[in-house]
Amino acid sequence: MSETLELELRCEDADATRRVGAALGRAAAPGTAALLQGQLGAGKTVFAQGVGAGLAAPSVVNSPTFVLVNEHLGGRLPLRHADLYRLDDPDLIAELGLFEAAEDGVLLVEWPERADGALPADHLLVRITPLTDAAGDAAPRRLELSASGPIARAALQAVERAATVLA
Ligand SMILES: Nc1ncnc2c1ncn2[C@@H]1O[C@H](COP(=O)(O)OP(=O)(O)O)[C@@H](O)[C@H]1O
Ligand SMILES: [Mg+2]
Repeated sequence: MSETLELELRCEDADATRRVGAALGRAAAPGTAALLQGQLGAGKTVFAQGVGAGLAAPSVVNSPTFVLVNEHLGGRLPLRHADLYRLDDPDLIAELGLFEAAEDGVLLVEWPERADGALPADHLLVRITPLTDAAGDAAPRRLELSASGPIARAALQAVERAATVLA
């Protein structure tokens, strides 16, 4: 059984966070799921934009506003981006089919806490913490990534190899 693999990075600005996401997008295999945790404005969507860029997804990754899941097709793998902030009935999670969404592509979930555990067991947890309360695009964040399961682990190993040139 594989143990949990962890990586901690400091990202000085939004582009640095985007580059970590892009490394994940480039490395992701079908079934890669990343759960993005952090307060409002932490940088979860910025990270998701990087993943989209790393997958060469043609559409812009923004917060899904009117739906809970946005699908970005046309990149190397299909990308599904969920934001569960407005999910107040965890029973609805089954209808979103997030497990199925993870199978053939890449799944990103903002506010995974709201899913009440109904998420893929093989996942990368990405915890984003602002290190100052400065506004703007250049305020440092701590990114803590931890992989549970073989798919997430392989993806995180690739991010780790790329990390030396990301900082
Ligand atoms: N180091 C950083 N990493 C990520 N975002 C940053 C960073 N520094 C400043 N920012 C800014 O913080 C905001 C993060 O917004 P967003 O990604 O939408 O947050 P969330 O999705 O977590 O609510 C953006 O305006 C971004 O430019
Ligand atoms: Mg967001």
